[in-house]
Amino acid sequence: MGASKRTLVTSALPYANGPLHIGHLAGAYLNADVYVRWLRGTGQEVLFVCGSDEHGAAITVRARKEGLTPQEIVDKYHTLFQSTFQAIGISFDVYDRTSSPLHHRTSQEFFRKLFDDGQFIEKESEQYFDEEANSFLADRYIIGTCPRCGHPDAYGDQCEKCGSTLSPTELIDPRSTLSGSKPVMRSTRHWYLPLENHEAWLREWINTGELDGSPHHDPALWKNHVIGQCKSWLDAGLQPRAMTRDLDWGVDVPPEIPGAAGKKLYVWMDAPIGYISATRKWAEENGGDWRQWWQDEDTDLIHFIGKDNIVFHCLIFPAILKAHGGYNLPVNVPANQFMNLEGNKISTSRNWAVWVDEFVRDFPGLEDSLRYNMIRNMPEQRDSEFTWKSFQETHNGELVNNLANFVNRVLVLTGKYFQGTVPAVHLDATFKDPEGHQTTVSDWLRKMADQIGEIDASIRSFSFRDGLQKVMEMSSAGNQILQINEPWKVYQSDPEAVKPVLFISLQIVTALSRVLRPFLPFTANRLDTFLGCPTGGEKGRIQEILDLIQAGEAILPAGHQTGEVGHLFDRIGDEVIEEQIARLHATEVPIAEEETSESHAFAPEKPEIQYDQFAGLDIRTGTIRSAEKVAKADRLLKLEVDLGFDQRTIVSGIAEYFQPEAIIGQQVLVLANLAPRKLKGITSQGMILMATGPDGGLHFVLPGETLPPGCIIS
Ligand code: 2FM
Ligand code: ZN
Repeated sequence: MGASKRTLVTSALPYANGPLHIGHLAGAYLNADVYVRWLRGTGQEVLFVCGSDEHGAAITVRARKEGLTPQEIVDKYHTLFQSTFQAIGISFDVYDRTSSPLHHRTSQEFFRKLFDDGQFIEKESEQYFDEEANSFLADRYIIGTCPRCGHPDAYGDQCEKCGSTLSPTELIDPRSTLSGSKPVMRSTRHWYLPLENHEAWLREWINTGELDGSPHHDPALWKNHVIGQCKSWLDAGLQPRAMTRDLDWGVDVPPEIPGAAGKKLYVWMDAPIGYISATRKWAEENGGDWRQWWQDEDTDLIHFIGKDNIVFHCLIFPAILKAHGGYNLPVNVPANQFMNLEGNKISTSRNWAVWVDEFVRDFPGLEDSLRYNMIRNMPEQRDSEFTWKSFQETHNGELVNNLANFVNRVLVLTGKYFQGTVPAVHLDATFKDPEGHQTTVSDWLRKMADQIGEIDASIRSFSFRDGLQKVMEMSSAGNQILQINEPWKVYQSDPEAVKPVLFISLQIVTALSRVLRPFLPFTANRLDTFLGCPTGGEKGRIQEILDLIQAGEAILPAGHQTGEVGHLFDRIGDEVIEEQIARLHATEVPIAEEETSESHAFAPEKPEIQYDQFAGLDIRTGTIRSAEKVAKADRLLKLEVDLGFDQRTIVSGIAEYFQPEAIIGQQVLVLANLAPRKLKGITSQGMILMATGPDGGLHFVLPGETLPPGCIIS
């Protein structure tokens, strides 16, 4: 089954700046774990690497908040991550960290090679500098008023209130989080990767799956939203991207490079190289060859990530790898969308989350129930939602009523009628299938092989929800076989007829113990114990049962003695769920007072300007003649605006507030002499003036009466 190649699987390195929540699990870890465990089960060579991302401003910001050093912060969360991942059954072959000396060396070697090969350009630019703290400011270190929604504490890269992506220079009244002072602009030199030089091959690689004119991967196997995001970046035109930063926490730019003093590698340069360092660490500890996993063409590289990491893994890291040369590029990046919680976005700052370390502490023995619910609702193609109620429903309704019920009935009946041994039957013996047709044991075994083949296909196409559903269908079919054959009734009159029923049921339970393992590894261990089989084995154990079936043999042989039967799962009561929901609400951190809509209407005043600056603005009345959504851009509308003397194309970030068809004919005010700007490949020739209401929503600014297009506002 499947290809025979080696597969290197990576999961995004989580920032070591806060505990893991269920959104992390659903994004990049559970899916990867199922995939890797399945590949192991089918006997394929696979290596699963991950580690903590311990650099970047996110770490230093958190350290300041907690009054600890960055090293103390990463130590704390790295240790927590290791135990949390282990407790929830994520089976990394290696879990490394980017503060390790080997990683520093690896990423410096990478940088050095790119530098020596002339892959960087050096550029001087103006960046915010804190004169009191004597430090350049990373985007996260600058806060100010959001130009879009007026939130007074937006970060230099993003406003957490309205979600806008920002650049530090857009902030109104910027201030440094280091000293609180107003930062000044100061020039600094950095090394940039000219991504525009990589645009052509990246475009071909993403669109056709070809690399340097040869087939590399099948783009039809990539998710649409992944390709869509890449295309929209490519269409907007790639820009040089700084690969270094002025920071004091991170990997040093190799000191022998002139001008390296005080410069660190950009975290998105160093973090993905962390996958390579982790592989090197694994190789050092296990006597393997790391190069085979990164440089041998017979290895498939697959990155599991959340959707916020797509461009880094599909464009920027591939460009870095290609610029270096000699490395494989990913054959797929099956990014997941986001998982929401009880109707809202998961938010660390609002403590609106289910923390995985707390879950495993509070619900020992229910790790697989969480895995089950999350895989079943995995945000594979679109955002999904976790609710405590659905957690209870999937546990009680599916794990207890379907799986545990089936397993329990089969093993209890085997104990009762055959002293726990697998009865001997001829493979031509018959029983009634779920539709009531007489079928032979060997026919059903063959059917099971087909079912496993279908699960295999789902998993290999990254459809884990589908794969799990098919596993559960095997269990439902088992339940139906019991129900329709009624061995508990038949046994009195015809004990022989019960043998094939329990024989096939035991085969199904055994198959389930193998195919469930990638999804529910703890449950699979318990099934193995109940069946009297050795627990914990993974490598080749799915292939093993397929080989047996294909050779016309049963997978749990006649005469095998089953083990002691226990309960797979108990029901989860309403009170447990209600307590969790109450706790979630009770511990939610309310949005700060100053962020509420009342104060929002009074965003701080902007600095004073001279009349001439105002007079330089050419503001006109206009009328929207057409409006349409901009593809792959949730916030943008493309408008044709009639200014009387000219018709302008204007791209406006108002799509979340207005339906295109509803604003045709709408009068607007337009800043007509704004320099044209390309947005998503469309040249925007002006800006529509909008007012931000107290609710944060956008409203058109209008003169007191309707005016023809082209009138001047002064
Ligand atoms: O988004 C994040 O949490 C990043 N720390 C992911 C890094 S993935 C990789 F490149 F290391
Ligand atoms: Zn905002």
